[in-house]
Amino acid sequence: MPKAAEPAEPAPRGQSRGSAPEQVSEADRRADLVVVANRLPVDKVMEPDGDTEWRRSPGGLVTALEPVMRRADGAWVGWPGQPDIEVEPFEFEGTHLVPVSLSADEIENYYEGMSNDTFWPLYHDVISPPRYRRVWWDAYVRVNRRFAEAAASVAAEGATVWVQDYQLQLVPAMLREARPDLTIGYFHHIPFPAYGLYSQLPWRRQVLEGLLGADVIGFQRVADAGNFARAVRRQLRYQTKATGITVPQADGTTRNALAKAFPISIDTSSYIELAERPDIVARAAEIRESLGNPKKILLGVDRLDYTKGIRHRLKAFGELLEDGRLNVEDVTLVQVASPSRERVDAYMQLRDEIELTVGRINGDHDTMGHTAIRYLHQAYPREEMVALFRAADVMLVTALRDGMNLVAKEYVATRTDNRGVLVLSEFAGAADELPSAIRINPHDIGGMKEAIMRAIEMPAAEQGRRMRALRKKVLENDVDRWSRSFLDALDEARRAKKRGRA
Ligand code: G6P
Repeated sequence: MPKAAEPAEPAPRGQSRGSAPEQVSEADRRADLVVVANRLPVDKVMEPDGDTEWRRSPGGLVTALEPVMRRADGAWVGWPGQPDIEVEPFEFEGTHLVPVSLSADEIENYYEGMSNDTFWPLYHDVISPPRYRRVWWDAYVRVNRRFAEAAASVAAEGATVWVQDYQLQLVPAMLREARPDLTIGYFHHIPFPAYGLYSQLPWRRQVLEGLLGADVIGFQRVADAGNFARAVRRQLRYQTKATGITVPQADGTTRNALAKAFPISIDTSSYIELAERPDIVARAAEIRESLGNPKKILLGVDRLDYTKGIRHRLKAFGELLEDGRLNVEDVTLVQVASPSRERVDAYMQLRDEIELTVGRINGDHDTMGHTAIRYLHQAYPREEMVALFRAADVMLVTALRDGMNLVAKEYVATRTDNRGVLVLSEFAGAADELPSAIRINPHDIGGMKEAIMRAIEMPAAEQGRRMRALRKKVLENDVDRWSRSFLDALDEARRAKKRGRA
């Protein structure tokens, strides 16, 4: 896209103190805890009567942070999810929301381009080839600056600012420069790749410097933190020791940044509550019924993304039907693939491939009364997902690369009956914490077929033993514990800074 086609940057909103008389005064809306994420935790939805309203959005990150924000009475800076929406900051369910507007061109270059066609594939081990485009990078820098400015304007003196994910990797350093009084955290929800891959990035130094603006840099796995430290040593020649990184400063002194694993989790108790609700238990039975009461239901639940290994999973299942080891009268695979990033080429191609494959397998094996794969390219409310988890005998998580995979944890949390089997890829972050799952390498189709058969045939006693061990982990390490441990690390960084100054 030629530069001239880009619109002038919209004037920053809500930053000039007292500019509009009807606005809440700036002092009133300063927060001690500010989350900065690409998306606001709400979506603008159109009602049947034509009115629009804000609704809490689904999705891992929002679900993970919502309880933390409600308790802390904090502010959340993010994009409202559609082009050119200019909205003043507003209150929503106990959180002060600060919208950052993006133009259609910025969505194309910063979000679909740099974030989801460069960083996303590069950080997921180049499963799909990343594209490196300078015009995307320029938009990424510009938009990151806008998020940093919005965060700086809403953060109280000495506040804690917690930046989320790969869309905003430059924000920590931009914020530190504008507001040295802040304590800054950054959490990376997706993998951080090995240096041999990371070094492809034309802007590899700028991104590392951006991240190192944070006092605490969190990753999902110990291996991700290790990859990051190695990139810092190789590219910037900074010293690293265990989880500490010595960062030289402009005045010749140094400061310490912490780069460490903080594996994210789910709001476990709310999943358990839903799983035990009589209407949801009844809905699970209804789902089984509507699938023709097969002996076993296999389930896959993913965003429609090439990192999730959906094709590999379909291949293994299709071959088991082909081999005659499984039969559609007995076994059905339910695949929920929620629509995602639909304007990015790699996602359009993936959708075509998956839908072709599902069509072929169903065409070859369906009977009038039974279907091999019930494919649903839709997103569902949490209640329906919990009913599906309760209905599924085997949960298939076959990611080729995944930061954590919260679906694996959600399945485990909802199995209060200690039944069901989790088949889990070793390339998902969740594998580090859930060794009692059946572990697979999704590239090994033969191995995956054996794992699926083992899961289908697993005796109830072994299911119970494994599920109890899995549940123990997910109950102990919920999202509350995750956020507390990250915020504790930030508190410790703040105290260390104070000691340094004294
Ligand atoms: C992953 C990322 C999140 C992202 C989510 C949905 O979980 O780590 O940052 O929000 O996918 O993707 P989207 O592009 O729709 O925000």
